[in-house]
Amino acid sequence: MTEPAKAKVEMEKLVSLCRRRGFIFPSSEIYGGLSSCWDYGPLGVELKRNIKDAWWRAMVQQRDDMVGLDSSILMHPRTWEASGHVQGFSDPLVECKSCHLRWRSDELESDKCPECGGELTEPRLFNLMFKTFIGPVEDDASVVYLRPETAQGMFVNFENVLNTTRKRLPFGIAQVGKSFRNEVTTGNFIFRSREFEQMEIEYFVKPETDKQWFDYWVEERINWYVSLGIKRENLKLRPHTKEELAHYARECSDINYLFPMGWAELEGIANRGDFDLVQHAKSSGKTLSYYDEEAKEHIVPYIIEPSAGVDRTFLALLCDAYDEDEAEGEKRVLLHLHPDIAPIKAAVLPLSRKEHLASFAREIYADLRKHWMVSYDDAQSIGRRYRRQDEIGTPFCVTVDFESLDDKQVTIRERDSLRQIRVPIDSLKATLRAKLGGEDLFVLPDGGKIWKE
Ligand code: GAP
Repeated sequence: MTEPAKAKVEMEKLVSLCRRRGFIFPSSEIYGGLSSCWDYGPLGVELKRNIKDAWWRAMVQQRDDMVGLDSSILMHPRTWEASGHVQGFSDPLVECKSCHLRWRSDELESDKCPECGGELTEPRLFNLMFKTFIGPVEDDASVVYLRPETAQGMFVNFENVLNTTRKRLPFGIAQVGKSFRNEVTTGNFIFRSREFEQMEIEYFVKPETDKQWFDYWVEERINWYVSLGIKRENLKLRPHTKEELAHYARECSDINYLFPMGWAELEGIANRGDFDLVQHAKSSGKTLSYYDEEAKEHIVPYIIEPSAGVDRTFLALLCDAYDEDEAEGEKRVLLHLHPDIAPIKAAVLPLSRKEHLASFAREIYADLRKHWMVSYDDAQSIGRRYRRQDEIGTPFCVTVDFESLDDKQVTIRERDSLRQIRVPIDSLKATLRAKLGGEDLFVLPDGGKIWKE
């Protein structure tokens, strides 16, 4: 397969679309924003929720071997000693002796400050975990950390989950939640931020089967992105070299995506071996093992960890979906979002604001929104309204015209192909459900007809 060299869309276009249409705003913008923190607006929150729901459906709901968890963000500080984060979760930093800006020494191309050319200090390790205090006293004994990954919540609950679910190996624990890292190098919009969300799986396997399960998860996770519409040629697997493996990993591969700034990590899949359960068993004094009934012995399972970022998936989906073309005689921007991911599934558009048509259209809208996120738009020309929906990726527009009052039919317009059908209002819901599920637009319900090829 030939790999594309460059993404089709520039980051500025995505940032501008996200800002303009209410997907993403800078955090606390009225105060000038907060570096590398972002707020998801009315459309962004829907899209983000759809990503997490799609992940949960595929990774938890539809599997027998997975259970969910929602562990707290603040954990006992010894968790982070046992995991190696207190000691090892750091970047080497240098400071410019003139302008005092700090840089990651492993990312510098020369030994001078990139900003002012000044002399740099020797590298010092800088821990990426955010510290805070628990309780009313701010002393060393009350220091806790905002978790830098959701993973540890799953390791420390291994025994709880095992005892309450009676799962047999192999099985996994899945969790979606916020993580925090005081990143030194930020930028590229939501690609690397200081507060972000992860969708992580810790999959516990018999040690001798680790290779097989690692390969299985690599394939499974690539297929998940493709199932949401991401083009396969924009995804690439990058195995880590021995030198770059994290302290806990025996093997690791990144699923990279062709972002506007180049190929970069979308998800990491690691074989963590028995590192985490052994470390937490040592540190807590608890036995964290599994009784293998076939072998009649206790074993410490190995862990395969597919760890994905919600925000990076969001960015990848937007990059992949972004397009510009001409429709109905006008230039348009559109997002070819998969219907499962699209923030709004359909828009109801009455051709006029006249009261008898508006109240009729509003009834249709009220009925559809019981089932999906649907919007109602009666402002400006129908062409402008189509453009607005195309730009946010709404798969279908339902147009209500004066004839609808008599024939009790409405028109459904498909975003990508611009084809239209006319269907009885009685079968509108069933038709939309089928089309959102992937059925061709021209498969018609009883009484339906093709309106525009
Ligand atoms: N538990 C393993 C772990 O956290 P990681 O490679 O450090 O591994 C996993 O992170 C995923 O989390 C990344 O592939 C990325 O999608 C997301 N991620 C990590 N740091 C991030 C950041 N600063 N901003 C946004 N997403 C981030």
